[in-house]
Formats: sequence, structure tokens, C-alpha cells
Amino acid sequence: MTVHKEPIPSFALTAPLCSDPAILFYIVDIVNTASFAQRVLTWYEQHGRKTLPWQQQKTPYRVWVSEIMLQQTQVATVIPYYERFMARFSDVVSLANAEPDEVLHLWTGLGYYARARNLHKAARVIRDHYQGQFPEQFEEVLGLPGIGRSTAGAVLSLSLGQHHGILDGNVKRVLARWQAQDGWPGKKDVENALWQLVEQLTPPRGVTQYNQAMMDLGATICTRSKPQCELCPVQNDCQALALGTPTAFPHSKPKKTVQPAKQASLLLLKQGRQILLVQRPPQGIWGGLYCFPEFHDEHELRHWLKRYPDASEPTPLPGFRHTFSHFHLDITPWLVELGQIPDEIMAGSERLWYNLEQPASVGLAAATKKLLAYPQLQERNH
Ligand code: ADE
Repeated sequence: MTVHKEPIPSFALTAPLCSDPAILFYIVDIVNTASFAQRVLTWYEQHGRKTLPWQQQKTPYRVWVSEIMLQQTQVATVIPYYERFMARFSDVVSLANAEPDEVLHLWTGLGYYARARNLHKAARVIRDHYQGQFPEQFEEVLGLPGIGRSTAGAVLSLSLGQHHGILDGNVKRVLARWQAQDGWPGKKDVENALWQLVEQLTPPRGVTQYNQAMMDLGATICTRSKPQCELCPVQNDCQALALGTPTAFPHSKPKKTVQPAKQASLLLLKQGRQILLVQRPPQGIWGGLYCFPEFHDEHELRHWLKRYPDASEPTPLPGFRHTFSHFHLDITPWLVELGQIPDEIMAGSERLWYNLEQPASVGLAAATKKLLAYPQLQERNH
């Protein structure tokens, strides 16, 4: 894989035509844009897919059904479903006239069944409002159930050659990499930036082949985790490749930042040898395991301790952060010593005076194990 150290506009290397940088960059943009489509079209001639079932006897209806089936689903999975579906529903009216159950039956195994329900609803709209003819105006197609901007563009460009761009998942990946687009494409402003690029790059001629090529490029070369950049027709000015991190684009959905939770853990030590543990309820984190008594904060811990007049003054020990898969827990341990076991604490089966010299075989939470190893407990134990 060739990795450039700096993003390089491909044409900039050979374009010392003008000394005004603004005009120069404008020219570079136009030339790169035109050459992008040309390179994609040339690649398509040699490597693109041309024999898929929905590429034969192309009609808006046949392409529409394929585009809906291909949402979230790979070509190889779709082909047998598509063929069975078309054998049963050869036109939009036969689909509209079917019972919903029969449509769902032919969809069984493809998943995302809302797609099938919307497909059927849309067929009935076409039967009832468009005289059974699939509409050919972009706005009309966009108004059908289950059809968004990209699918409307795909149906009308692939079947009728109308000039519309597409931006499905595959195309988003190709363009987010080529432009090294920052941000998660699920965010409106990022998606808008990619649509702007689609508008800029989609060529006036050959839109059918170009759109198919962009989808094929995403599905076969510019794949999610192992792109084959050395085979890509737009590698020489791909900004993500130039940065050396093609798979870093498109950026992932930002993880929600969760405030770390805080907890005060009570290390209640009796006669230097026994320490109080409590069993957690069976559900939730550390379900069924033994832990130190937990409080929201020092204040709550001190309040709880009021019932034991002979308890020593609580001493804070060094805290630590325990990280779960989706949140952090900042734990502050407080050491308190008792002369004798208070009766009411001994009652209750979920409570255990854990003997540090002869530890009972009970399940201990990870943070509890860590606290039991604190030197401050070992010192008092001897
Ligand atoms: N994914 C979505 N539309 C497609 C098409 N027309 N060909 C291949 N894969 C696709």
C-alpha cells in the first residue's frame, strides 16, 4: 500500500498555471472532481458488476425492489430472495394486490421486516394513486413509504439514467475516506457535507454506471476493515490513505460520556482480623458477590456509623477507579475499627464477618479483592 505523508491534491503537482492560490485551488478542485468520476467510470468498465439480476430488464419497479432488499443486506444473500420475489410479483400491481402475509412470507429470512411492510404499502400507493405506474418524478418517489433520498436517487438513476446522486452506506465510506471527512456520518452536518461532495462528484453523463460503480467500490475494494487501497482507482488523492489511516474513516458514533459514579466503601474491621462484607442482590453489577458496605459519600457513611458509638474515627485510604464496560466507578475506602461485633450486624444471612486469616470461600467482587489486599488491612491483621 502506498502511503503519502501529506494529503496531496493530485493535480496540484502539475499545475503551476497561476500564482493566485485561490484560483489555483479552484482549478485543482475542478480538475480533480472531473477526474474522480472518470477514474471511477474506467474502473467500472473493467471491474464493476454488470450481471446482477436487477441489472437485467431494468425498470424502476425491479430496481426499487432490489434497492430495498439490498439495504443492510449483502448482494449474495439478496439474489435468491430477489428471484423468488420477482417470479411471484412480476409487477407493482401484483405486489399491491397480494396479502401482506404473502409478502412477508417471501421476505422471511431477509430480516428488517419493516422494509417488506413499507414495500407493500408503497405498491398500494402506486396502484391507487399512480395508476399502477411507478412514478418517475424524484419528489413523488421520495414520498413513497420506505424511500429516502439515496434510494430515490438510486432507483431513478439506475433504472432511467436520471441525474441523481446516491449516498448509501458503501458510498458514505468511500467518500468519507477520499475526503478524510471528520465526524460521524449519522450527524446531520456530516451527512450534509457528504451530500455536497456527492453533488460535486456525480458526473453529468454515465450516472447509471457511476452510481453502480460507487456502490461496487464500497462493497468490494473500500471495505470497512480491510480496504484494498492498492486496487482503488482514486487512491492517489484519497486523503484518508494519505494520512495513513483509511479505516479511521468514516468516524464512529461518539460514545456517550457517562459521568463517573462515586462510592464510599466502608472497611469495618473488628479486632484487626474480621471485616464486614455484604452480599449484593442477585441482579445488577456484581450480582450475588460479596462487597464492602457501600455509601454514596462520606456523609452517608458517617451517618450509618452513628449507631456504633465505639467505632473509631473513619480514616480515608487511597482511592481508585474501577472501570466497567460503559462507566467508571471512583471508589474511596474508609477504614473504621470496632472493638466487638455488634449484635445487629451479625444478624442477616447476607452479611459476613470475613476472617482475613482464614478467608471463607465466597464470591468476591473485583474491587473487593483489591481492597482486601490493601497493606493497611494486612498491618492490623498481624
Ligand atoms: N447495494 C445497494 N444497491 C446496490 C446495487 N445496485 N448493486 C449492488 N449493491 C448494492
